[in-house]
Amino acid sequence: MIRTAVIPVAGLGTRFLPATKAIPKEMIPIIDKPTIQYIVEEAVDSGIEHIVFITGRNKSAIANHFDYHPELETHLKEKNKLDELEGIRKLVSRASFSFVRQNEPKGLGHAVLCSRHLIGKDESFAVLLGDDIIDAEVPALKQMIKVHNEKQAPVLALQQVPGDDVSKYGVVAGEYVSETVLKLSGLVEKPEPADAPSDLAIIGRYILSYEIFQYIEDTNVDKTGEIQLTNALRQYRDIFGLLFKGKRYDAGNKLDYLRATVELALEREEFREPFTAYLKNLKL
Ligand code: G1P
Repeated sequence: MIRTAVIPVAGLGTRFLPATKAIPKEMIPIIDKPTIQYIVEEAVDSGIEHIVFITGRNKSAIANHFDYHPELETHLKEKNKLDELEGIRKLVSRASFSFVRQNEPKGLGHAVLCSRHLIGKDESFAVLLGDDIIDAEVPALKQMIKVHNEKQAPVLALQQVPGDDVSKYGVVAGEYVSETVLKLSGLVEKPEPADAPSDLAIIGRYILSYEIFQYIEDTNVDKTGEIQLTNALRQYRDIFGLLFKGKRYDAGNKLDYLRATVELALEREEFREPFTAYLKNLKL
């Protein structure tokens, strides 16, 4: 059973400056919900009970967001805003939240290593990256847990990406063992398009076992001074990738963020009609 999800949130969010100068990038909303809440909701909707945030300086707004707020709750009660009240209370009650400081900027592998003392030696756990918002009928992590239960091995989320984009991702080589599952034989972090083993990119969802911590310790820092999770993953003998069903947005990319805002708004009853009418009338 996968109970724990590790969510690295220590990044500075420089792609979204100036918005991220004083506000954690994870708190920037898509419509009215911080991007980090989409990630946490995917995790709890997949059965996760414990969220471990790997945080850094200036990220206290995230801890506040996942805590009760008595003053606001009393205010909402007095104003009879009961739906809003239920919404903010429910989010906090659905999981327990832990916070670990990553006090050196040494990359994703190092961020995951910071959670070691909170993971059981026989426990498999999830890692979710905050920039990857996945809109799916069945939560992407839940789809992966199903594969993990079948294979009893680590599972990565994969998506096909267009040609030159491979250089932005971890890219895999592997053999299909079913229509959507691959047994992986190679993993390369951000290859040049000419060197990429395929067009299948790792999207920010992982199910890992405790062994990963040793593998990360065995991994050297790369030329940017970071420990890449992708390089540590290479040490697994049996590891699988799932081409999940769902639409993924890179919330750290401004164009994709804009797309996510428009498309997620169109999915909401309250916006569908007026927003569709607005889009039709736009003189482009
Ligand atoms: C990280 C990982 C990369 C993965 C990507 C998914 O890169 O290192 O392997 O493909 O997340 O979003 P980053 O986007 O942090 O540079």
